[in-house]
Amino acid sequence: MKVGIIGCGNISETYFNCQKIFNNFEITACADLNKEFASKSAEQFNVKAQSVDEILSNKEIGLIINLTIPSAHKEIIVKSLNAGKHCFSEKPLAMNMEEGLEIQKLSNEKTLYVGCAPDTFLGAAGQNARKLIEEDKIGKVVLGTFNLMSHGMEHWHPNPDFFFKPGAGPVFDVGVYYLTQLINLIGPVKSISSISGTATPERIITSEPRNGEKISVETPTTLMGILEFHNNAKIQFFCSWDVWKHKHSTIELYGLEGSMIVPDPNFFSGNILLSKKDEDWQIINNDSMLLGIPNKTDNDGSKIANYRGIGLSDMIDAINNQRQARCSLDLALHVLEVMEGIIRSSELNQVYHLKSKSIQPKFLDETEIEKLKF
Ligand SMILES: NC(=O)c1ccc[n+]([C@@H]2O[C@H](COP(=O)([O-])OP(=O)(O)OC[C@H]3O[C@@H](n4cnc5c(N)ncnc54)[C@H](O)[C@@H]3O)[C@@H](O)[C@H]2O)c1
Repeated sequence: MKVGIIGCGNISETYFNCQKIFNNFEITACADLNKEFASKSAEQFNVKAQSVDEILSNKEIGLIINLTIPSAHKEIIVKSLNAGKHCFSEKPLAMNMEEGLEIQKLSNEKTLYVGCAPDTFLGAAGQNARKLIEEDKIGKVVLGTFNLMSHGMEHWHPNPDFFFKPGAGPVFDVGVYYLTQLINLIGPVKSISSISGTATPERIITSEPRNGEKISVETPTTLMGILEFHNNAKIQFFCSWDVWKHKHSTIELYGLEGSMIVPDPNFFSGNILLSKKDEDWQIINNDSMLLGIPNKTDNDGSKIANYRGIGLSDMIDAINNQRQARCSLDLALHVLEVMEGIIRSSELNQVYHLKSKSIQPKFLDETEIEKLKF
């Protein structure tokens, strides 16, 4: 399938490069509100630079990859659908459920697919953890925690404003990886209780080129609470951009027969730790699985696995075979409602009960990955 990218910012390079990993799509054009960005990417990746209107009416393109900022996600998804194209969007799907449901209605009317990142849960660690849980290695999961804490994004991103506006913050921007992973592992969420805080009303950018500029914070920078899942598991969470340093692990799951620590769901691999009852931790390395083999050097020089694009490739395969995609609209809408519910519960000081109930995305086995990989 020929595809076009709208939004040629920070993450776009990863998507341009992923067409070398997966075999069922080719990026032929790109667009950005900022024409210079589109021209620069077009030159670097040997594609056509077009305006947003031109790319939407480009007849050879069957799917748009939406890499704009969160506040533009719905607009670009809707425009893609109205132009008769499928759309795979970066997370979050939209700013709120109202927008998400509009997307769902249009996607149904047009019988076109909408898919959404993150796809990291399809990586080696996420899929192996899922397999271990389904093989009952820790028994029924009844409790757990997830922790994501850092001191924000203003020290690395060149334009970090959007991180501190509604539609971002630690839950919508990073929590989305944890929530999607947990739904992959233990199924949909039933209810939420949370509280929120904002440590400082302004952030000072320390990255270049806008070092020293101030950003006003318009969404909570800390959210803490409890998620109750349909399988009755209770998961405590702490999402914050107000913490300099900590020693919590990312995702811990406690089952009737043992415990499991799942690595950072922002990445495709990493070691799983598993213990039977109170025995010692066993280290389970996932680096030899297809979507765990290190293929990229990270900023700190370490080799990591980065297979962003698997969700898009799986969705194109789903379109070709008329099946449900794993990074489906159904899953993205449920995750969006959980994120909105976390904010709502903290604002209203009430338990939020979810209306949506996604199905667990289907397990992705190595034979299916083989078919999609070059
Ligand atoms: N940067 C990362 O490491 C990263 C990782 C994973 C996911 N994401 C997600 O990807 C998305 C983009 O992030 P980014 O870091 O690349 O942001 P960015 O600000 O670097 O790039 C966004 C680009 O979209 C363009 N744009 C904005 N509105 C537009 C519109 N209406 N029409 C056309 N172009 C428009 C902007 O001009 C900009 O070039 C976000 O949703 C983010 O959450 C980013």
